[in-house]
Amino acid sequence: MDRIRVVGGRPLNGVIPISGAKNATLPLMIASLLTDQTLVLENVPRLADVALLQRILGNHGVDIMVGGKRPGDSEYKGQTLHISAADIVDTTAPYELVSKMRASFWVIAPLVARMGEAKVSMPGGCAIGTRPVDLLLMVLERLGAEIDIDGGYVIARAPRGLRGGEIVFPKVTVSGTHTAIMASVLADGTTVIDNAAREPEIGDVAACLNKMGAKISGAGTPRIVVEGVAKLNGARHSVLPDRIETGTYAMAVAMTGGDVTLEGAQAELLQAGLDVLARAGVQIAATNTGIRVVRNGAGLAPVEVTTDPFPGFPTDLQAQLMALMTRARGTSRITETIFENRFMHVQELVRLGARIHLHGETATIEGVARLRGAPVMATDLRASVSLVIAALAAEGETMVNRVYHLDRGFERLEDKLVACGADIARISG
Ligand code: UD1
Repeated sequence: MDRIRVVGGRPLNGVIPISGAKNATLPLMIASLLTDQTLVLENVPRLADVALLQRILGNHGVDIMVGGKRPGDSEYKGQTLHISAADIVDTTAPYELVSKMRASFWVIAPLVARMGEAKVSMPGGCAIGTRPVDLLLMVLERLGAEIDIDGGYVIARAPRGLRGGEIVFPKVTVSGTHTAIMASVLADGTTVIDNAAREPEIGDVAACLNKMGAKISGAGTPRIVVEGVAKLNGARHSVLPDRIETGTYAMAVAMTGGDVTLEGAQAELLQAGLDVLARAGVQIAATNTGIRVVRNGAGLAPVEVTTDPFPGFPTDLQAQLMALMTRARGTSRITETIFENRFMHVQELVRLGARIHLHGETATIEGVARLRGAPVMATDLRASVSLVIAALAAEGETMVNRVYHLDRGFERLEDKLVACGADIARISG
């Protein structure tokens, strides 16, 4: 299993290209199940989760052609996927595949919408809490599907098709909102989705579906209205930039000091995250090409932050912010409201010399003058990158084990950091 070795203490300077967003790519690929025509997705990141979803879709009979690299293309340019779900040969998503990536459960909505049935394994446990699917099933039932649970599988049936309805989410959920949109685009009649998630990736998927002929309005607001249509077409869509990758590298620069332009990043996708960095004393400026992040010499001020659904501070940047605040001049407080048990990084940061105390859903971080390298282990995607951020500022060598978590969500992380002067390398095997 690969490991990443980091020797801390070097500032970051240069340009980091931001890849397409993982959390938009996955539902966009899943949306291809809604049409028998070809969906072309551009700016798709090279990630383990994308490769896994290619396998899962392949199991349903979807053909995926990956556009080759053209001369002069940089490896960072992103892939182009030509996805064709002309014939769906199997409406079952097996446990062996779904258990590896929760988002693959989301195939349930387009499969029922188009085929009238789906049998999808319950996703099972996860390192960041229980993460139930009750609200996704509520959506399908509300739109007329019959739901059965048998042998660890959810069996959803709507032989005469789904029909429009009213959906009011008791809590904001990204997965629930994707499910509601994908289940309603081909439904008979109009669906109103209230208390919808407003994450930019929801807007990106809705924009793509509208290019495919769907009638979705209000994506990006708490009320989304979907007028069902009889059929969707193919389309071409470029995935929006990854705001979590953007925020992660912004925090890495804040941690090490230096001057980096995050190329292709869009400030409006993570204003709450950038505001927190500005409060910590980091200089942030939107430029023609992306976002410039600068910290020269000045120390970091502590912050108080609570994670919230978009446009609040994202839970997917909580671990990275905590790593950064281990070096602030004073005491920070970070409260996690989205997922219980999303503090698996705390014990590993403590191994590097951080002072962090947990009280329920709040972590108190007392800034320390220095961190020291150590072997650490990552337990989930965002936790593992928080260890890399800490390691970039730690004295000596840190070995981050279980790198496969990083590869699920960060494209060529070590190459992007090396190009800006970091001492970081992947050790294979
Ligand atoms: C998505 C993101 C993930 C991010 C999260 C919150 C993708 C692929 N993943 O995950 O990176 O951390 O949004 O921004 O886009 N819940 C229920 N019942 C349900 C569904 C969810 O109680 O049926 C709860 C969850 O346990 C959690 C909250 O709702 O407490 C939010 O979850 P949700 O927004 O659905 O997260 P995901 O879509 O799984």
